[in-house]
Amino acid sequence: MDIFISSAFGYSQKKKEKEMKISAAVVAAAFSLAFSFILVNFTGQCDAALQQGFYKGKCNSQDVEAIVASVVKRRFNDKPRVAAGLIRLFFHDCFVNGCDASILLDGDSSEKTAPPNLSVSGYDVIDEAKGLLEEACAGVVSCADIIAIAARDAVQLSGGGRYEVQTGRRDGSVSLASNVDLPSPRFSVSQSADAFAKKGIGLTDMVLLLGGHTIGFTNCSLFRDRLYNFDNTGKPDPTMDPLLVMKLRLICPRNSPADRTPVSLDQNLASTFIVDNSFYKQIRLGRGILQIDQALALDPLTNNTVASLANGNDFLARFGQAMVKLGAVDVLTDSQGEIRESCHLKNKPRSTLLFG
Ligand code: HEM
Ligand SMILES: *[C@@H]1O[C@H](CO)[C@@H](O)[C@H](O)[C@H]1NC(C)=O
Ligand SMILES: *[C@@H]1O[C@H](CO)[C@@H](O)[C@H](O)[C@H]1NC(C)=O
Ligand SMILES: *[C@@H]1O[C@H](CO)[C@@H](O)[C@H](O)[C@H]1NC(C)=O
Repeated sequence: MDIFISSAFGYSQKKKEKEMKISAAVVAAAFSLAFSFILVNFTGQCDAALQQGFYKGKCNSQDVEAIVASVVKRRFNDKPRVAAGLIRLFFHDCFVNGCDASILLDGDSSEKTAPPNLSVSGYDVIDEAKGLLEEACAGVVSCADIIAIAARDAVQLSGGGRYEVQTGRRDGSVSLASNVDLPSPRFSVSQSADAFAKKGIGLTDMVLLLGGHTIGFTNCSLFRDRLYNFDNTGKPDPTMDPLLVMKLRLICPRNSPADRTPVSLDQNLASTFIVDNSFYKQIRLGRGILQIDQALALDPLTNNTVASLANGNDFLARFGQAMVKLGAVDVLTDSQGEIRESCHLKNKPRSTLLFG
């Protein structure tokens, strides 16, 4: 009896202690949460992280991601090339001035007028999705998030598996062609690594993201030098498989600047439209098209990562994670930026508040 009581007492005592510890922890957590809110508000450097499913319950009980997906899917079924365009659009948006849809803004000297835009496509897909979303819930979904969601869908539709996309971005209002400092396809690995480091993206993630070249095309103008006069040697790039040099010389004659034949970035032609690791296998065989792609396989900074991606089966999962990181570069959140009404234009100032 004694034993029972004391042990029963002991039990409830412990339980009480536990409850007290828990409530103390809850109070402490609440305090630190409140404190961090205060900090954030005071410093104004709110880095409210993006989150998965940011729009849940915010769009008149409509599913924002499903609306984007329906548009991307229809366009993809019509023309699979749209997937590469959307993935590249996402990269170009995020790399210039952060993922803020600045690439979509119209203007005489806005980002999309800069030379690297040349083959960026997918603008119309974003416009169509934005139209549907404005009907579903006006002024709620940012153009920057539509780009990120559409890029995720493009990866999935191309067989790259599904990753959870983060949302909560807001749209920026600055778009200048003069800000476009995208890496050149003729960069070395270390030059490219510097460019990615400036965006907070490390070497391994850079190798993973360049795996985006597992789909899509380029034009002769961007690699013709590698076929005929590499580094002014009068010879082809010695790192390119000689058989590939011969083949590409037929597609890209020396003196014909205006050839429109698209050349697959992934030279495993059976997987031109498929997001998979064959790009890494190809560059290990000297079959990279862009100089930077080939360099990844050879440079001691990246060759081991390339080898492991070529030989392993974890590329898709890791690519998805790297895309999520790319999607967090210099984002605007919370009260920063705006939700554009049209992805082409920044909103008109609300002058009525001041004057009317
Ligand atoms: C050092 C970094 C990079 C360089 C120098 C680079 C360069 C290029 C170039 C020159 C093209 C061909 C464009 C044309 O022919 O007009 C291209 C295409 C493409 N890039 Fe990149 N890129 C880089 C990183 C990325 C990243 C991080 C992604 C996405 C994750 C990406 C996705 C694509 C896609 C999908 C295409 C094909 C576009 C199409 O077929 O429409 N690139 N890239
Ligand atoms: C891309 O840039 C070129 C000039 O470099 C410009 O002529 C073209 O209109 C631009 N494309 C878009 C979609 O703005
Ligand atoms: C290649 O050149 C053609 C014609 O100049 C252009 O329409 C296309 O967008 C370019 N890029 C690719 C990847 O085909
Ligand atoms: C990467 O390059 C280093 C230095 O050249 C070399 O020792 C190593 O074997 C290479 N790794 C692979 C997988 O080729």
